Amino acid sequence: MCGVVGYIGGRNAQPVLLNCLARLEYRGYDSCGIALDGGSLRVCKDIGKIAELAKVVPQLDGLAGIGHTRWATHGAPSRINAHPHLDCSGTIAVVHNGIINNFQVLRRRLEAEGHSFISETDTEVIPHLIEKYYRGSLEEAVVAALGEIKGSYAVIVLAAGESKLVVARNGSPLIIGVGDREHFIASDVPAVLDYTNRVIYLEDGDLAVVTSGGVSVTSRGAGVERKETRILWSVEDAQKAGYEHFMLKEIHEQPKVIRDTLVNWVSVADSVVDIAAMRRNLESMLILACGTSYHAALIGKYVIEELLSIPVRVEIASEFNYYGQTLARTAAIAITQSGETADTLKTIRKLRAARCLVIAITNVVGSSASRLADHTIYTWAGPEISVAATKSFMVQLMVLYWLVMSYSRIDPGRLAELVMDLRGLPEKVQRVLGRGDVISEYASYLAQHEDVFFIGRGINFPVALEGALKLKEVSYIHAEGYAAGELKHGSFALLGSGTPVVAILARDNTYEAMLSNIKEAKARGAPVLAVAEEGDVAIRELADFIITVPVVDAIFSPVVNTVALQLLAYYTARERGCPVDTPRNLAKSVTVE
Ligand code: G6P
Repeated sequence: MCGVVGYIGGRNAQPVLLNCLARLEYRGYDSCGIALDGGSLRVCKDIGKIAELAKVVPQLDGLAGIGHTRWATHGAPSRINAHPHLDCSGTIAVVHNGIINNFQVLRRRLEAEGHSFISETDTEVIPHLIEKYYRGSLEEAVVAALGEIKGSYAVIVLAAGESKLVVARNGSPLIIGVGDREHFIASDVPAVLDYTNRVIYLEDGDLAVVTSGGVSVTSRGAGVERKETRILWSVEDAQKAGYEHFMLKEIHEQPKVIRDTLVNWVSVADSVVDIAAMRRNLESMLILACGTSYHAALIGKYVIEELLSIPVRVEIASEFNYYGQTLARTAAIAITQSGETADTLKTIRKLRAARCLVIAITNVVGSSASRLADHTIYTWAGPEISVAATKSFMVQLMVLYWLVMSYSRIDPGRLAELVMDLRGLPEKVQRVLGRGDVISEYASYLAQHEDVFFIGRGINFPVALEGALKLKEVSYIHAEGYAAGELKHGSFALLGSGTPVVAILARDNTYEAMLSNIKEAKARGAPVLAVAEEGDVAIRELADFIITVPVVDAIFSPVVNTVALQLLAYYTARERGCPVDTPRNLAKSVTVE
């Protein structure tokens, strides 16, 4: 998803901007560019990676500048469509993340007034609107221009000779890093961590004038104070630390983040959310999410229904926006690692408008989801840089488990067993990580195929969905996750020696049926790779390849099984030479509907 950066201070802005942009690479992009103010504006932009731009960009001097990584929405990736965009006079440059819904109307009007456009983007209307309204005050012109816009934005405006940046946010994240007589602006914290850990989070509706010496923020015309936050994680946390890819590093961080999330969550649980009070008032629960977070939500459904006996509906956020209003007496949980997914935010607004209680589970402090929801539960995964979500998914599961176990009325003996198992999970996950060599060997085999099915039942059905999603997003192998019992209703037609089936097992009431499903797949010639518990003898007779995972209570089997599948996807992608951390066409945070 697009990323914006800006710099103003005593350094030459060019290397700072390129470095900040490089730190946003994980968001996914297809083109990039920068603009610097050295008395007049100089712009350099192109399709491709930041490292390539850095090689060809001429030395541009200037103490203020802006930069952008673009993930195409309006208009194909091209040099012309890349940001920054300029007004007619070439004195106002803008970078923008978000989407302008009424840009066609605005563009036609501006064209009729004599403005000429060169790109296909929605963004280009912004510098032209600012030019139109400019009467000597850049900030007033920006306010007037944004007043015309319907949609979402994080924008940074640079005007020749002004010695200031004007920045604004509405629906897309934007932060200001505070240095010593210098300021850094970015879509996300990792972009500025090389320079400062002091950060101001802007809120929707904020407009800030940023100079080297200060930041003044207004919200709908009135001055407001936005406090500085100190970021506790370091630049090293956002770097590879010797791993070949961020994805592998983040997979390996899971024992630690499970521990951190449990410790932090346990200490604040009571004060954050009283699920017991929620239970008295509700007839059902709703969980909303997208992508990998949706799979965590599906696992949450099994856990909540089993331990709390509350019916749970899980909805894909983008679909929920079209459903009827059956929301009365509903408590909702919105799961979003970034806290910025447009579809999920829209559902939170809709639910709040219907007076439902909304709890957000997110990894990003100060994110939009945390501001919109009634309560926020933070996961403690630290920065996740790889586009493919791994550790953020794991900590979402931890929060769901703990949320439920904190308040369940289950038998104390059973609860004690579960708590003990939960505490033992970091060590069990570590043991799965120790099987990297075997998994990488199986991955070399999987890498030779173009179609793979993942099957699971019960609580491991969502794990099959997540395993398939992980494999396709990083290795580009077509993969489908299936409820194991459904495979025979159509997809059997595709099974054969060229279509491996990855079967995910747990020793629960699904086990026998899973063995039958594996036999069915084998009978149709499909090679079977099983993820199964240590000591499972029956599976040895059936599967061609087995990844063994430590014994855990079946309710926690998604934890160890998912880690095995994450490694399988990672090594398969590496074997195929894919750009693991930045898969084509994907973005870390999807801020458009
Ligand atoms: C993007 C990411 C996925 C993520 C999904 C939902 O597609 O690439 O990894 O699962 O968005 O993101 P969220 O931040 O709402 O969890």
